[in-house]
Formats: sequence, structure tokens, C-alpha cells
Amino acid sequence: MTDDSLSSHLHEMDLSPDPAFTEQANGTAAMYDEAAADHEGFWARQARERISWATDFDQTLDWSEAPFAKWFVGGTLNVAYNCVDRHVEAGNGDRVAIHFEGEGGDTRTITYADLQREVSKAANALESLGVATGDRVAVYMPMIPETVFTMLACARIGAPHSVIFGGFSAEALHTRIADAEAKVVVTTDGQWRRGKPAPLKAAVDAAIHHGEDESPVEKVLVVKRTDTEVEWDDSRDVWWHDLVDGQPDTHEAVPVDSEHPLFILYTSGTTGKPKGIFHTTGGYLTQAAYTNAVVHDVHPESDVYWCTADVGWVTGHSYIVYGPLANGATQVLYEGTPDTPHQGRWWELVEKYKVSILYTAPTAIRTFMKWGDDIPAKSDLSSVRMLGSVGEPINPEAWLWYRKNIGGGKAPIVDTWWQTETGGIMISPLPGVTTLEPGSAQKPIPGISAEILDDDGNPFTEAEKVGYLVLTKPWPAMLRGIWGDPERYKETYWSRFGPKYYFAGDGAKYDEKGNIWLLGRVDDVMNVSGHRLSTAEIESALVSHPSVAEAAVVGAADETTGQAVCAFVILRGDAVDNGEETVQELRGHVAKEIGPIAKPRQVMIVQELPKTRSGKIMRRLLKDVAENREVGDVTTLADSSVMNLIKEGMTSGSSD
Ligand code: WTA
Repeated sequence: MTDDSLSSHLHEMDLSPDPAFTEQANGTAAMYDEAAADHEGFWARQARERISWATDFDQTLDWSEAPFAKWFVGGTLNVAYNCVDRHVEAGNGDRVAIHFEGEGGDTRTITYADLQREVSKAANALESLGVATGDRVAVYMPMIPETVFTMLACARIGAPHSVIFGGFSAEALHTRIADAEAKVVVTTDGQWRRGKPAPLKAAVDAAIHHGEDESPVEKVLVVKRTDTEVEWDDSRDVWWHDLVDGQPDTHEAVPVDSEHPLFILYTSGTTGKPKGIFHTTGGYLTQAAYTNAVVHDVHPESDVYWCTADVGWVTGHSYIVYGPLANGATQVLYEGTPDTPHQGRWWELVEKYKVSILYTAPTAIRTFMKWGDDIPAKSDLSSVRMLGSVGEPINPEAWLWYRKNIGGGKAPIVDTWWQTETGGIMISPLPGVTTLEPGSAQKPIPGISAEILDDDGNPFTEAEKVGYLVLTKPWPAMLRGIWGDPERYKETYWSRFGPKYYFAGDGAKYDEKGNIWLLGRVDDVMNVSGHRLSTAEIESALVSHPSVAEAAVVGAADETTGQAVCAFVILRGDAVDNGEETVQELRGHVAKEIGPIAKPRQVMIVQELPKTRSGKIMRRLLKDVAENREVGDVTTLADSSVMNLIKEGMTSGSSD
């Protein structure tokens, strides 16, 4: 589609809610008013209606030691009880909690009654290894049911887990285990990656035997998944099937304080040391359940929900484990990659399990666009009624493709903005309530308040002016801090604009309709000749060109303009690379879409982009290329050879 037809197409589409959808939607327009009228009262209601408390709370919010929040003070609850047992007690033990699909096609159907038994066994096993309330457990596992059992077993005991994404190296694992002082690590012998077993436990061994440091790890619990040969330390290592399978399948879930830590999740900051973002119990679970209900519109009795994130990221925590299970939903858990054994795997799963709600990332959607419309067209996707997106702004072209090819031309799409730090969705349309605006996350959901500030920290509402997104009121699932580093917490999030505002680190603007557009991290916001430009906006412009599959933009130092726009572009399979001519056409296209100021100084046609294993583009490395520097640390790349490919295979065009 050309950009002209794209914008006229968007203009002609009626994106107001379908009355039939509104009729059944969990979210309502009235919620905005209710939350605005009484912020704390609104959240107290969500907490009492959606969560089962062992002891009711007596204070909704204690903000007296801001920015250290306490929510639902005095309340006690158990997260595993809320996610598992209470559904069984309510008579829904036979409902499927998880349809598991292994990469190789092995399957497991786990009902809520099964889940209760499995989680209880795992909790008993962890206790037999010496894990007690407050101890930290590191989880380094692929997308298999035992991972969910382990997380819930930790929650059941009140032992905070620290899940470390299975794609991280031994080095990364070591730092995270050491920082959290994890006593036990749960892992697997290996994991399936594109039909082949890749070792996993080996990295745990290396992380434990790291340099001179004494490791806090006492026991390693190992699930056999791939029959990969492992080294074994008899005094430390225990097989899951030897220990867990024989445990009693009942376990008493002990209620913990609402502010008891539930988990730590490490995320990269601006310095080299990862930040251990920690979340607590009552507030986190309340917001996870609430957002999964009103934003994903999950109806547990009829929907089949599938969030494709890895459980090693916050999206997997909030929207595979805690939100959907707290709501008693039925979901799909898939172990493998989207192209194993072929590029239609996801769509076959949607057809097989009759998935009605799909939550995924723009980077995946653009990959599917690249692979071609004919692939999803081979499967019956008529069960799909709701779509969601998370992780980065979804460009309108990808939005339209998603809606048409996956959503049958009618499923609402929620573009959900949030962060590891926020714990749950913050800015998003409500399906059935909001008139959608492709490319925009639109507005804070009921109960959440945000503003956009200028450089001096003043809020504004003018359209098209670029500023900084801040959150203006505490919210239940907010991070409670950085593990072991309260000062860094204050400094990172609460100092840029003073203690009143949580600074999210994202650039944002309003459009004329008052919708919020997220413009990427502010470190990705460029300043070209005194004009502030967003990498995301230019990328979206490039991707709207019919020849472009994917684009990454960086601001490279420039003597005259301060920064200059440098674009790295992957062409679509069917597009012809005419060298300099294509480059000039793309430069012209951006100039036309956004303005001459945004015209890239350089467009480099490449075969691959450097991505982390979670699919985030590592712009820092591209910046090194654009600024003719030695390329920096590539250890977190999914494929570290990509940078060589980029440097070797670049067709580069420069400015006139
Ligand atoms: C970005 C992922 C635009 C943003 C849940 C944020 C988004 C960072 C969106 C957090 C969205 C996430 N639109 N940008 N819908 N969702 N982001 O911690 O820059 O992995 O600050 O959490 O991703 O990434 P994180």
C-alpha cells in the first residue's frame, strides 16, 4: 500500500466500537468517571472484587513515604491461592488452564485441578530443598508448564522468584543470581530451539562457578526436557522427576502481607548494571487481573487467550501467569519459535485451540507481514475476536495488516503501553469503549493518570508538540523499588521532574483528538538542527513504504546539525534493491511523510537488524556503525554475527 492510500484508507475506516462487542465488554465508559471521581476508591473496589483476601486491607494507599508506595495496607493474601485454588473451590477445576504445545508437537492439557496438584507438589519440593518465605529462587527455563508451576509454587511459599530469560548467557545469569542472592535455581537440561536441543543447565553451572565468588546457590532443581547430557553435582543438583513427582499433591497456601515481594525482574538501565525491578503482592495482582479483564477483555468461561511473550519478560509474568490465571482464564502456552517447523505454526495453533484473544508484539507482526499474507490465510482464524500489541509503538501499516489478516477485518486492537516498572498495562484503548486510532496507545486506562511535560517540567496539551511522558499518581502494580538500591530507584524514576512525577523515559505527544502517541525512549529521541525527532516516527514512515519490511533509525552525531538521522532498512522479499535509486526514494519518502527535516542523512539497506532475544532492536550498536566506531558489546544480541553481516553487506547512500 502506498502512504497516500494508507492514510486515506485509515481515514475512511470506521474504528468506533462495534455495539455487539460493547454489549459484552468487561470495560465500560463509566469506569473512567468512577476512577477520576475517587482514585483510591476505584482501586479498592478492583482489589476487593477481583482478588480473594485472607484478611481485608484497612488502608488502600499509604504514600506517606513517597516514592515508596504501600497498597492495600494490612491486607493478606496468597497469589497462588488466587490463581489456582479458588477456581477449583468455585467448581471450575475441570476448566483448562493451559493448553501446552511443545515445539515438537507434544501437548499437555492442564486443568485448574491439575494445576493445583502440580503447584502443590512443586511447593512441597521447594520447601524440602530449604526454600522458606522470603528466600529468592532463580528460574532459568524455557516456555514449558513446569515454569508456570515453579513461579506459582514460589508465590505459594512467599519466596520471590527471579525469572531470567532462557536466552541470557551464563554471565548475565551470574550477575542476576548474585544480586538477588538466590538460594535455589530451577532450570532444565536443555531447551528446544528450531528443532534442536540447546543446553541450558550448562549455563547455570558456569554461573555458579564464576570466578572467585562464593555462590549463594545451594540447590539446582532440573527438569528433563531435551535429554541433553548434563554435568552433575550430587550434593547440589536434583532432578525434578526424582523430587517433585513423588511429593504430596496438596499444600497449604500461606497468606502473606499485601506488600510482601512477589518477584524481582531484571531489566537494563542506562548503566551497565541491570536493575532488579521488584514487585509486591496485592497491588500487582489486582492490576494484572483488572487489566487482563478490561483491556484484553478476557471472559474466562468462553475465551481462549494466547499471549506469545516469553515468561522471562514482564509480559509473560503479568499476562501469561498472574493476570489470566487470577481471572481463571484458559490459555495457550507455546514453547517454540513462530517458524518451526514452518512459518504458519502460530496460525495453525490459533485454529487448533480456537484462540479468541491474541496478544503479541509489533516486531512479530512485521515479521509475519514480511513472510506474506498467504501464510495466515491457510488457517481458519475465525475464532479471533480481540487483538493486542505490546513492546513498542505499532506502526499503522502493521496495525492494518494485523487487523485484516489476523483479526478478520473487525477485531479491536489494543496497543498497550507499559513497562517492567509499571507491572501492568497503563495506557491503552478499552475494547468496546474507545474509538481506535492506529499507531496510538491513546489514553491512560481508568485508574491511571499520565501527562506530557516539556523540558522545564511543565505539563502541556498542545497537539503535535513532543515532550516526556510522566505518571502523576501512584498505581497498584508500580515497582516498589530496585532490589537493594533504593537510591537508584529515586534517582532513575523520581528526580528528572521532581518527586511528583514518575518519569517513564519515553517521549510522547498528543494528536488533535487528545490521543497519546508514544515516541520511543527519550534516549532514542533525536535533536536535528534544534528539532526534536523521534526514531519511532521515522521508522513508521519508512515501514509505510511498500518496499520496506523493517526499519531502525538512530541519531548519529553530526557536525552541522547536532544529530543526523541514519536509517537501517530491510527490504521486503518481493522488493527490488536498486541501490542508490532505492535509497533516494526512501529518503524522499520520509521527507514527504514527516517533513524535510526528518529526511535521513543515510539509508543503509541491510539483511538483518541487531536484536536482543526479546526482539528489541539494539540501536546503540547501529549508532556505532552510523558513527563509524568500533561496534560495542554484542553479548545480549540474539545472534552476535548480525553486526558483521550489517557492516559487510551494507548498501549505503548519503545525503545530497
Ligand atoms: C516501550 C514491556 C510504545 C516503551 C511491557 C517502554 C512501548 C518500554 C509500548 C518498556 C507501546 C512498551 N507503545 N512503546 N505499546 N509498550 N513500549 O520494560 O519504550 O520491556 O518504556 O516492558 O517499551 O519495555 P519493557
